[in-house]
Amino acid sequence: MSTGQWAVVLGASSGTGAAIALEVARSREFNVFGVHRGRYLEQAQRVEQDVAATGRRIVMHRGDAAIPEGVAQGADALLAAAGPRSVKLFVHSLASGSVGHFVSGGEEQFHPKQVERTFNAMAHSFLYWIQALVARDLLAPQARLLGLTNPLTESLLHNTGLITAAKAALEIYVRHLALELGPKGHRVNLLKFGTVMTPALQHVYSPEALAKLEAAHARMNPSGRMCTVEEVARFVSVLVGEDVDWFNGATIDFTGGMTLRLLDLVLNAPR
Ligand SMILES: NC(=O)c1ccc[n+]([C@@H]2O[C@H](COP(=O)([O-])OP(=O)(O)OC[C@H]3O[C@@H](n4cnc5c(N)ncnc54)[C@H](OP(=O)(O)O)[C@@H]3O)[C@@H](O)[C@H]2O)c1
Repeated sequence: MSTGQWAVVLGASSGTGAAIALEVARSREFNVFGVHRGRYLEQAQRVEQDVAATGRRIVMHRGDAAIPEGVAQGADALLAAAGPRSVKLFVHSLASGSVGHFVSGGEEQFHPKQVERTFNAMAHSFLYWIQALVARDLLAPQARLLGLTNPLTESLLHNTGLITAAKAALEIYVRHLALELGPKGHRVNLLKFGTVMTPALQHVYSPEALAKLEAAHARMNPSGRMCTVEEVARFVSVLVGEDVDWFNGATIDFTGGMTLRLLDLVLNAPR
């Protein structure tokens, strides 16, 4: 068991979660309890080294954070490492969902198993973890609990309906948990941001497709560029501050205006 405050980051081995783990260790001096399943081992080791280099403790727990049994194991390991009332920040940064269609009739049509897995990873696990943290008295006074989302609940992308439905459920979990935990001094919010370049994206897309993606975001975003994981991570660190503790049950828009000009782009696209 250790002294000091802890950040629990689900999905700490890659992308947004990795950046948040490092940022809050550096700027908030939190120890980090990260969870992942081990698909990005090199990146996980880098996060461990980088956080350790800040002088903070890091425990990287390997397990399935999306199912109740995995949550119980993870929360028990967290209790052993961190002790009661130690978790100041909890961030749900799991990304694991199926793309496809609801009624295509073909192979792309979502199977109930895909629906269940996507909702477990992208929505229900947020609830399961918070239940587990509360049951073990792990939350520090005035803890900050954060879900992450994207602008796809407003402007739809044809094959991401299942993930977006899970994000809608996540938003409602956030609001209800804010109601239930607010009187105890805790804050539960949802941070919405636009596309950021992550190793997962770089793995999935070819360099040409990535260049196209970047160019499209440069046209969409009023700033003329894509957001970065470091920018998101720095803002998460801001959200831990006492000055912003009036945010509760909020969906905080950190999209940089990503969808503001979509209609303009469609109506005025060169033919
Ligand atoms: N990337 C974007 O452009 C973007 C934009 C807005 C919002 N977001 C949101 O930000 C969050 C993180 O996205 P990202 O793109 O940064 O993700 P990412 O780079 O793909 O990383 C996902 C992380 O989750 C872990 N993970 C996935 N399923 C898991 C499970 N069942 N149990 C334990 N660990 C699991 C992965 O490790 P393992 O696979 O090894 O388990 C990895 O550490 C998501 O909620 C996403 O919707 C992302």
